Amino acid sequence: MSPIYSTERLIVRPLTSADIPVLSNTLQDPIAMAAYAHAFSDQEVTDWLNNNLRRYQEDGYGLWALICKTDGQFIGQCGLTNQNFNGQSVVEIGYLLQRDYWHQGYAIEAAQGAKQYAFDTLHVPEVWSIIRDNNFASMNVAIRNGMLVRGVTIKHYYGIDMPHYGFSVKREVI
Ligand SMILES: CC(C)(COP(=O)(O)OP(=O)(O)OC[C@H]1O[C@@H](n2cnc3c(N)ncnc32)[C@H](O)[C@@H]1OP(=O)(O)O)[C@@H](O)C(=O)NCCC(=O)NCCS
Repeated sequence: MSPIYSTERLIVRPLTSADIPVLSNTLQDPIAMAAYAHAFSDQEVTDWLNNNLRRYQEDGYGLWALICKTDGQFIGQCGLTNQNFNGQSVVEIGYLLQRDYWHQGYAIEAAQGAKQYAFDTLHVPEVWSIIRDNNFASMNVAIRNGMLVRGVTIKHYYGIDMPHYGFSVKREVI
C-alpha cells in the first residue's frame, strides 16, 4: 500500500480493517481516551474505522495509520478530517498515539507532516486542531505545529458539554 506521506521516522498510510486490533490499543485505553470521556466498545472501534474508510472515499483523506520506519510497528493515528467549528467548515489535523509512544515527538512529527500535506498537496489554505479544554498534551502539539487559538466552541458528546478551543494556522502565500 503506498504511503500518504512520510516523515523522518514515520510512514503514514491509510487504515485498513486489519488494523482493528492495534486501533483498539488506543481507542479502548481509558487513559488515552480521557478527552472522549470513555473507552470505546468493540462496535465503536469498528464504527471509527468505517467512518475513516468512508472519509477516504468521500473526502480523499481521513485519519491514517502511523508506522515506525525502524520496526514497522503501528504506533497511532494522525490525519485530516472535515469538521464544523461554530458553523465554519474546517479541515482538522487530528492525532492519537498509543500510550507507549507518548513523549517521543511522534505526534508533532506526524502533525507537521499532515500540515505540509494539506498545504502542498491538497492546497488547503488553513488547517485547524479542535481540542478539549483539558487536553494540554494535544494543545502543545497544536502550538508546536505553529497554530494559535482562534475561538471556543462547546461540543455535546457522550452526554457532556465539552468546551473546545479551535487552533489554526494558515498556509503562507509567497
Ligand atoms: C495528544 C497526544 C498525541 C500528544 O502526545 P505527546 O507524546 O505529548 O506529543 P509528541 O509525540 O509530539 O511528544 C512531545 C514530547 O516528546 C518530547 N520529545 C522527545 N523526543 C522528541 C523528538 N525527537 N522530537 C520532538 N519532541 C520530542 C518533547 O520534548 C515533548 O515532551 P513533553 O511530553 O514533556 O512535552 C497524546 O497525548 C495522545 O495520543 N492523547 C490521546 C488522544 C488525544 O487526546 N488526541 C487529541 C484529541 S484532540
